[in-house]
Amino acid sequence: MTQAERKILVTSALPYANGSIHLGHLVEYIQTDVWVRFQKMRGHQCTYVCADDAHGTPIMLRAQREGITPDELVARIKEEHVADFAAFNINFDNFHSTHSEENRELASHIYTQLEKAGHIARRTIKQAYDPEKEMFLPDRFIKGTCPKCGAEDQYGDNCEACGATYSPTELKNAVSAVSGATPIEKESEHYFFKLGDFEQMLKEWIGHGHGTSSTIQPAIASKLGEWFEAGLQDWDISRDKPYFGFQIPGTEDKYFYVWLDAPIGYMASFKNLCDRTEGLNFDDYFARDSHTELYHFIGKDIAYFHTLFWPAMLEGAGYRKPTAVFCHGFLTVNGQKMSKSRGTFVNARTYLDHLDPEYLRYYFSAKLSDGIDDLDLNLDDFIARVNSDLVGKVVNIASRCAGFIKKRFDGKLSDTCSEPGLYNEFVEAGKTIADSYERREFGRAIRDIMALADKANVYIDEKQPWVIAKEEGKDQELHDICSTGINLFRVLMTYLAPVLPVMAEKVTDFLNLESMQWHNCAQPLTAHGINKFKPLMTRVEKDKVDAMLEASKEELAKMQEPATPTTGPLVDDPIAETINFDDFAKVDLRIARIAKAAHVEGADKLLQLTLDLGGETRNVFAGIKSAYKPEELEGKLTVMVANLAPRKMKFGLSEGMVLAAGPGGSDLFILNPDEGAEPGMKVK
Ligand code: 2FM
Ligand code: ZN
Repeated sequence: MTQAERKILVTSALPYANGSIHLGHLVEYIQTDVWVRFQKMRGHQCTYVCADDAHGTPIMLRAQREGITPDELVARIKEEHVADFAAFNINFDNFHSTHSEENRELASHIYTQLEKAGHIARRTIKQAYDPEKEMFLPDRFIKGTCPKCGAEDQYGDNCEACGATYSPTELKNAVSAVSGATPIEKESEHYFFKLGDFEQMLKEWIGHGHGTSSTIQPAIASKLGEWFEAGLQDWDISRDKPYFGFQIPGTEDKYFYVWLDAPIGYMASFKNLCDRTEGLNFDDYFARDSHTELYHFIGKDIAYFHTLFWPAMLEGAGYRKPTAVFCHGFLTVNGQKMSKSRGTFVNARTYLDHLDPEYLRYYFSAKLSDGIDDLDLNLDDFIARVNSDLVGKVVNIASRCAGFIKKRFDGKLSDTCSEPGLYNEFVEAGKTIADSYERREFGRAIRDIMALADKANVYIDEKQPWVIAKEEGKDQELHDICSTGINLFRVLMTYLAPVLPVMAEKVTDFLNLESMQWHNCAQPLTAHGINKFKPLMTRVEKDKVDAMLEASKEELAKMQEPATPTTGPLVDDPIAETINFDDFAKVDLRIARIAKAAHVEGADKLLQLTLDLGGETRNVFAGIKSAYKPEELEGKLTVMVANLAPRKMKFGLSEGMVLAAGPGGSDLFILNPDEGAEPGMKVK
C-alpha cells in the first residue's frame, strides 16, 4: 500500500420518495459508486450511505391522492428505489429513510443545540393559505395568470412562458392547485435559522482543502462569492400543519421544513449502519475533532443547501463539517434537456428492461470530470463508444488469448513474464489512472485505460499468436504471448473494475482470482491456472435503444399527473359550487369536426386541434395527448365550448375548449356526438 488506510464516509443526494429514479439521477449515483468502489479497491475503509428523502408537501399530497398514508407511500417507493439502485450495482453500505427514528432524534438534537446557542429566530410572516384545504400553500401549489405576460396556468413563483419570477401574491387570478380555491393571506409564526451567524466560519471552511481536493469546486466558489455578496439571509425552517415531517420540539403544530432534516438523513443513515456494524463508530466520523473524511456528491442545483446551510448547521450543533462537497452538472440526452415527448426522459427501470447497466456506467464514467458542466448522453455515440471500447478493445484482448491457453496449455499461464517492460508500463500507468479517479476525472482515467488497451491489441497484432499457433516448435512463444495478453487484460480490468463491477466479477472468476484489488496487479500472474473463457459483454444494439425510447414515450403517456401539480385539482375533485340555470345557459356547446390534429413541439400533454364549426375554424389546444394519436382524431366530431374567451397559452392562442371525460392518462375520452350531428350545431 502506498498510502495509509483512510476512513472515508461518502453520500449521494437523497432522492425524493415520490418519484422514480431516472437516468438524470443515475449520473450522480454512478459517479459516487465508481469513486467509492475505487477507494475500497485501494484498501481504504470507505462507507457509502444514502436514504430516501421522505418528507414534505408533495409527498403528503400524493399519498392523499392515492388514498394511502404517507408512510405507506414512502415504504413502497423505497422498495422501488432500492431495487433500481441494486440493478445498476450502486453499492450502498446503507440505504435508509429520513422518516426514521434516527433522523427524528438527530434532527431534534441539532435543532435544540442551535436553539440553545441562539441561532434560531421566530417571526410572524404572511403566506398564501388554502381556506378550503386549510393548509398553507408552497409556491408550486399556487397557479394563476402571469403578472408580466398574462400567460395562464403558471406556478406561484415563476412563469414558464416568459421566464419571469415573482411572488405568489403578484399572480393574477391565483388558485390553489390543491383544491381550486382562491388562496387568502394568513399570518403564522415561523422559525428561522440565522445563517448570517456563520458567515466567517463558512468563508474559512471554503478556503480549506484536503489532499488533492478543495472543499468546493472553483465554479461553486464563485457562486458562493455572489451569495456572500448578496448577504446571507435567515432560513425559514418551519412549516405549519398539515405537513408530513417531524414536529419541532417544544411546539404543537410546527414541523421541520423537509430541507432541514434531509441532510441530517446522511447522518441518520450512517447511524443506523453503525448501530449494527462492529467496528464502525458514529462519533469517529461526526465528532467535531474527527480525522475521518466526509464527502457529499450532489447536483449543482442544491449547492446552496450543502455549502451554506449544512456546514453551518453542523458547526452550530457541535459536529464536524464536510471535507468537501462535490457537485456535478445535469444530464442532457442528444444535446437537449430530457424530454417526455421525445422519449428521452428514461426511468431507470425502463433502461433496465432493454439495456445492460454496465453500458451506462461506462458511458457516464467516460464523460465525467471534476467539473459542473452538463453531461450529454448522445445515443449514437453511446452505442459506438461502448461497442468499440469495451467489446472491440478490452474483451477482444482476452478472447484472442484465452482459447490457446485453455486448449494448448491446459489452462495454465507461463512460468515467467516474457514482457516485463510492457507489463511494468501498464502497472506504472496505474498511478496516473488512480490519481484521475481520486480527483473524479473519470473521463481522463478511461482515456488512459483505453490507450493501454490499444497498446495491448497492438502487441497481439504484432505477435500474431494465431499464426505462431500453426508453426512447429513455437509452443513456448505462443504460451508467452498469450500469457502476456491475459496479464495485460487483468491489469486493464483491475483499472476498470470501479466502473464495471459485473464484468470485473466475471473476470475474477475467469482468471481464478480471489478478488480484484488495485495493488494486486503489481505482480503478473505466472504458472497460474485460469478458467474457461465465457463471453463477458455483448454489443449494444440500436434497436434496443430505440425500443427503450419508445417504451419511455408510452409509459409517460400512460402516467397519471406528476406529484407536483401541473393543472387542475390534485386531491379528490369536490363538486364545485352550485350554479343556476342562467349561468349554465351561457355556455355555448357546439358540435365541431376535428379538421386537423397535430403534436405540439415541446408540450407533453397537448394536441393542437383545428376545429371546424361549419363555416368557422378554431384553434384549440387540448390536453388529450395521453389518450389519442393525432391521426385517430382527424375527421371525428366532438363537443366544444364555443364561447370561451380565447386564452393565450405558451404555444399560441386557444380559442375554445374540447369536452372530454375520464380518469386521465390513456382513459380520457373526447365527447363524441352521435351520427347525424353536423359541425356548428348547438348541443342541447
Ligand atoms: O433535490 C433533491 O432531490 C433532494 N431530495 C436532495 C436532498 S439531498 C440531502 F440534503 F438530503
Ligand atoms: Zn409570463
